[in-house]
Amino acid sequence: MIKSKCKIGSNLRVLLESINEVPYGTSFIEDNEKKLVGIVTDGDFRRLLLNGKGLEDILQPSDLGDFVSAIEGENFDQLLNKTNIKINIVPIVNDSGELVDFFEYKHKTKFTPVAEPTLENRELEYLLDAFSSTWISSRGKYIDRFEEEFSSFCKVDYGVATSNGTVAIHLALVALGIGPGDEVIVPDLTFAATINAVLYANATPVIVDVNKDSWTICPDEIEKAITPKTKAIIPVHVYGQACEMDKIMSIAKTHNLKVVEDCAEAHGAEFNGQRVGSFGDISTFSFFANKIITTGEGGMCVTNSEELDKKMRQLRDHGMSKERRYWHDVIGFNYRMTNLQAAIGCAQLEKIDWILDRNNQIERNYIKHLDDLKLFNWQKTYKQNRKVVWLMSCTTEKRKEVMDVLVAHNIDVRPFFYCLSEMPIYSKYSFSSKNALEISKIGINLPTVKNVDYKRIANLLREL
Ligand SMILES: Cc1ncc(COP(=O)(O)O)c(C=O)c1O
Repeated sequence: MIKSKCKIGSNLRVLLESINEVPYGTSFIEDNEKKLVGIVTDGDFRRLLLNGKGLEDILQPSDLGDFVSAIEGENFDQLLNKTNIKINIVPIVNDSGELVDFFEYKHKTKFTPVAEPTLENRELEYLLDAFSSTWISSRGKYIDRFEEEFSSFCKVDYGVATSNGTVAIHLALVALGIGPGDEVIVPDLTFAATINAVLYANATPVIVDVNKDSWTICPDEIEKAITPKTKAIIPVHVYGQACEMDKIMSIAKTHNLKVVEDCAEAHGAEFNGQRVGSFGDISTFSFFANKIITTGEGGMCVTNSEELDKKMRQLRDHGMSKERRYWHDVIGFNYRMTNLQAAIGCAQLEKIDWILDRNNQIERNYIKHLDDLKLFNWQKTYKQNRKVVWLMSCTTEKRKEVMDVLVAHNIDVRPFFYCLSEMPIYSKYSFSSKNALEISKIGINLPTVKNVDYKRIANLLREL
């Protein structure tokens, strides 16, 4: 027997009493034939008062908004799918439209982000140590240590820490002498930082398509796009997947091109047993807060060339001469990382293998719990590659529906990047883009954090 029923045509005082009588704060509104015609929650009631209604006014059909209901016999998952953060109560009606029961489900409102940094180990200890040392700008022991340890993690000789991953790419291009009149090949599916850095260098980007399956830059398209003006390629190891570095390095060698690997999303990934970051003339990383390891904001250029290391150090520091203080040989930048950021980076680096293992486990958990829904095509793994999981990445033809359901339940999801070629500010640089356009429309990143409720996500998506 449902207590909180109210007839259309009652006054608001009667309606309020009916809402007030029950802990779930909702009244079910019936017409004279006992058909359910709406529901009014305590929140709806407040809105009626704010719209100028008084307690003695009559409840009119026009006071009722749309409502979600279920038919007698619907199962738990069907009922659950009708609820979300805002809809806690679903009335259940029989074939004649009469209220027979209702379903109540209070969603956990805790937000599940797509990514979050894990800062609970030695990060604070090192940060405080750097802070107490008073070396809080860009000199201090943690800078040297982070550069040394991160470059050795990449199996590369030198590391030049920068203020973020975007300026790292710019610094690399300038150090390689890329400038006006030079063409630089970039993939269509990447974050805008890759192409922006080329434009900062006043060079001309040439956007080429990616492989359909791996989502990484297509070597055949690189070859097709080469002109006498081409000076460099920026392969991006997008979403943790290593590019085909054997083919790319061989194209670069044949055409005498520089290679700047953009490894912002792929710390620790490997191609043919070799770490990304160790193929190119210079390779760049990002340590933004959602990256595999973070320094808050931050980046690094790594290289095996002593000469490029020296050049980048000078350019990073306003182009100041190493030998003669306040003497500037070239126009440089302030692209330095602080000792405070580097302190966090050192602590992060101590557990990078643990983070990579954890993210792999997260990917396995998603596949285990969601594979049978037949909704997702998981990111491919290749025998010759060690893919890393930056963000759980997959494609689905039902991206909008998946995103709508998850976002309504406070679970954050991200669509893949828009293709560079489809944005008006970059479209004039487009050479080819077919696969990238398709992937970009169906790609999605799922939360890659601890405590993902995989079963709940599976239940939420089951009816799609
Ligand atoms: C592929 C790629 N390149 C470059 C960057 C730029 O890094 P940052 O945000 O540290 O400037 C990012 C990160 O956001 C990225 O995903």
